[in-house]
Amino acid sequence: MIKSVKAEIVENKPIAPEFFRMTLKAETLASEGLPGQFVMVKVSPNLEPFLRRPISLHQINREEATVSLLYQVVGKGTRLMSETQKGKVIELLGPLGKGFTWSDSDRVVALVGGGCGTAPLVALAHSLLEDKKEVHVLLGAQTKEKLVCEEDFISMGAKVKVATDDGSYGHHGFVTDLLKNLIHDVALDMVYSCGPLPMTKEVVKLTQEASIPCQISLEERMGCGIGACIGCVCKVRTKDGAFTYKKVCKDGPVFKGEEVMFDD
Ligand code: FES
Repeated sequence: MIKSVKAEIVENKPIAPEFFRMTLKAETLASEGLPGQFVMVKVSPNLEPFLRRPISLHQINREEATVSLLYQVVGKGTRLMSETQKGKVIELLGPLGKGFTWSDSDRVVALVGGGCGTAPLVALAHSLLEDKKEVHVLLGAQTKEKLVCEEDFISMGAKVKVATDDGSYGHHGFVTDLLKNLIHDVALDMVYSCGPLPMTKEVVKLTQEASIPCQISLEERMGCGIGACIGCVCKVRTKDGAFTYKKVCKDGPVFKGEEVMFDD
């Protein structure tokens, strides 16, 4: 059943250039939401812009019945979101999609995030650490100013390393360079990834070479977010070696790394 939710904005503030964190009082989302799932946000009470925006659950606080969304201002919809004041009530659909999974045997894990893709990994790290996993977090950003969530991960007790494109902080280069080193140094049971497509492809390649299972959250444009418009398909391998198409909003956004076929 599709859940329509009305939620009051508790906080909506910038945390880095272009990046905002919105916290919502939303009992259902907080009690039912899982790391990797997302919501479709109605950014304006008016008809324009018409489409809702898909945004992943960034923090899930069951005790306080709140969830947070971390979003980057990239267009009209997210600009409107950033201008919505504390105390306003907004409409959302969710929680939607299939999130990240883990089992007892996944003891040592790595989370690889690039840019805004870091957002859902905060909720994931929180759950994994609660489950007593050893959590390594590798963060990539264009610059030090655009790095988000480093402190969130550190304060939770994760082991964090950073890469920036311009070398202004941490490793000068790709976050996947850090993953390559981590795979060499630490026996990982699972790798989780969310970020730009080139990064995701490289994470899948490196984990496959090392025979480590991996889960990737795909960032895809969405129309409806509920499986009705076929606006978000991705190509996946089938067991017989052929392929089929799946909906990122309904079958994902989290997929096994080895099943997604990336068209170059
Ligand atoms: Fe409509 Fe996925 S966004 S089917």
